[in-house]
Amino acid sequence: MKQIIIQFGGTGDLFKKKLLPAYMHLAAKGYDFSIITLGRRFSTREEFIAHLPQQPDQEFLKRLEYVQYDMKDPASLERVSSKAQQLVGDECEVEFIYYIALQPSLYEAAIRQIEQINTHMHCTVSKKIIVEKPFGFDLDTATAYNTILTSVFTDEEIYRIDHYLGKEFMQNLLIMRFHNDIIRGIWNNHFIDHIQIIFDEDLGVEERLGFYEQIGVVRDTVQNHILQVITHLTMSEPSAFTPEEISHEKLRVLRAIKPVKDFTLSRYRSLAELQGDSIRTPTYTSFKLFVDTFEFSGVPIYVRTGKMQSEGRSQIYVNFKNTMGRVLNNSRIAQNSVIITTHPEMNIDITLNMKMPNTRWETQPVRFNFNHAETFGINTPEAYEQIVEKILRSDKSLFPSMSEIQEAWRIVTPTLQGNVVETYDDHTLPASAVRLLEEDGRVWNA
Ligand code: BG6
Repeated sequence: MKQIIIQFGGTGDLFKKKLLPAYMHLAAKGYDFSIITLGRRFSTREEFIAHLPQQPDQEFLKRLEYVQYDMKDPASLERVSSKAQQLVGDECEVEFIYYIALQPSLYEAAIRQIEQINTHMHCTVSKKIIVEKPFGFDLDTATAYNTILTSVFTDEEIYRIDHYLGKEFMQNLLIMRFHNDIIRGIWNNHFIDHIQIIFDEDLGVEERLGFYEQIGVVRDTVQNHILQVITHLTMSEPSAFTPEEISHEKLRVLRAIKPVKDFTLSRYRSLAELQGDSIRTPTYTSFKLFVDTFEFSGVPIYVRTGKMQSEGRSQIYVNFKNTMGRVLNNSRIAQNSVIITTHPEMNIDITLNMKMPNTRWETQPVRFNFNHAETFGINTPEAYEQIVEKILRSDKSLFPSMSEIQEAWRIVTPTLQGNVVETYDDHTLPASAVRLLEEDGRVWNA
């Protein structure tokens, strides 16, 4: 069956940086699809192609179309429909994949237009719709968008994206936790003291300012990526590794998350200087939360994440209780940790105390390391490639369900009205993030 992707937001950052490489790899793997990219910026296909950050080969270019598209202009719709007709040709088995990579506020208009594109088709088609995160702007708008979506598509046809689910480390977290007896035995509040999630980015909002100033850090990464990471860290074992069972366990975690504590928002200085006080877009947040399940109640999970930090790093520290340090009253005995690093490269480290040579029982924490690329090679597909491949194959295993999305909005809702309390110097950690741990007598591991 011929698959045609209609790409809304085809001149945006996501398309250029993530989707285009994913499409090119999948085409090279043999998937047979065409793409109609829609964008306002360029008037011709040639101009669009000339501005692509990497030049696709001739084979790929044959499947890449461009239509200048302005939602407010009815003639745009005509252009999309006729391009689609042209690609369909004589085929009668065609699937249309509508990929919406737009501001949430434009969803409704896009869906209404998609309805009209459909009505122009004269052959049998199946369809799918792909919606980028954040799904909605808050709980109410998410629910409203879903109602609109489900009036045109069945839930089976809707793919709600959180590209973190396409990351190898997320899938590996489940295997590490559930396929290793020694890890299973200690992965609970009897042994874990606290967890630190550090997702720092070195870049600022750059060209995405227009999108980001409406969204801010909580909607951009906490409501989706961070909460999904927390579900993978704390969920109970699913009865099977199926999308339904995994989602069921993730939902149990999300429902058990109590209101977040010590929540702060900050913004980096050069953005503040650029924007003044009129738009107070938060670019960094830190907070603590608890997952009140039998296995995790009482374990603080500290989160810090945002833009313009000294180093781009994504790390999770699972820090274990240091019973032996206390029993032996020896401060040289360090707590054990499992350290999951996902960026700049994927590593899992376990720290254990080992004897230092030529000493009388002196110890030093030593890291035992698994480096994903060294073990499995560097050709692991990027998250978006895994996600798009699943879409092409109608496999819904890497997509959050609507119930998860709604539950995640419930969790972040009280924070959405929060004000930026701090302006941090570019490439420095906001003081509020430092205080978060200090107040609990702890320090960030990194
Ligand atoms: C995106 C956010 O969803 O995730 C970006 O919109 C953020 O602001 C990005 O930079 C982080 O993803 P990754 O894959 O680079 O960790």
